[in-house]
Amino acid sequence: MKKKVIAVNRLEQEVLEMLEDEVDVTFFSGIHSIENDKFVKTLHDADGIIGLALQVNDKLLDLAPNVKIFSNVSVGYNNLDIDALTKRNIMATNTPGVLNETVADTIFGLLIATARRIPELDHYVKARKWKNDLTSDYYGTDVHHKTIGIIGMGRIGEAIANRAHHGFHMNVLYHNRNRKPEAEATFNATYKELDALLRESDFIVLMTPLSPETEGMIGAREFSLMKETAIFINGSRGQTIVEKDLIAALRNKQIAAAGLDVFEKEPVEDDNPLLDMPNVVTLPHIGSSTYATELAMSKLACDNLLAGLRGEKPPHLINEAVWKDS
Ligand code: DGY
Repeated sequence: MKKKVIAVNRLEQEVLEMLEDEVDVTFFSGIHSIENDKFVKTLHDADGIIGLALQVNDKLLDLAPNVKIFSNVSVGYNNLDIDALTKRNIMATNTPGVLNETVADTIFGLLIATARRIPELDHYVKARKWKNDLTSDYYGTDVHHKTIGIIGMGRIGEAIANRAHHGFHMNVLYHNRNRKPEAEATFNATYKELDALLRESDFIVLMTPLSPETEGMIGAREFSLMKETAIFINGSRGQTIVEKDLIAALRNKQIAAAGLDVFEKEPVEDDNPLLDMPNVVTLPHIGSSTYATELAMSKLACDNLLAGLRGEKPPHLINEAVWKDS
């Protein structure tokens, strides 16, 4: 008999079809927790779950007694309670690697759009307001040859450093849990303690994964250390910063501008003051979302899931302890 799999929120059609050759799939969209009765019923018989943005915790796992693997279609896995999964011997997997260059493109796009005020000026032109020679009120700020400070020098951080150093001749600073000698040599990057990086950077790019250690790591104190001309870019998760402190820092002109792919609450709420600030450029958490990269992530998640269900070690197992104990 075929194994039973639940797919939630996003999986490319082509990959769903691939899965269906081997397992029975029930697809749900718009599911973030256990609020839907049909979803809850299906959980009871499921052998595996694959998907995005589902909160996986004890409450959900209590309703899913047969699940052997949860395959996340993203590299970040802050939606998974890894301890809860591990204590039940459930494998958790993610999709690293295939999205690095795509996310780095998005982050650089956001950085340039914010520095050169591209969305604001686009609206200006399309609103038919461009009637005269422009004054300096419309000028932006240079990106090339400036100092970029990357917080979180993982694979995506390195892809950003590559663009910064080789493409834009920027001075690269970074802060990370561990020193990265190879990145230092390749991108002429300098390791800095967090406060020094915040003080010295023209562009601060936050890429660190969300964990109990990084939650709220950039707040009022950290914004106060940044230059008044600094541009802050968040490509990690909304909860790695204290959003109300970012709003205050922008209102008080402690920093110049921000480019945000992520928010504390997603989808972002209508009354979020960031949405009314012309010096804030926003994206709907779309860093990795090109057709090619979404497909590659879905395929990788599918490989992880099928390997786990066949009793093989999935290529991107997060909680290795489950494998060692099995
Ligand atoms: C990731 O893969 O973590 C991206 O942020 C999409 O969620």
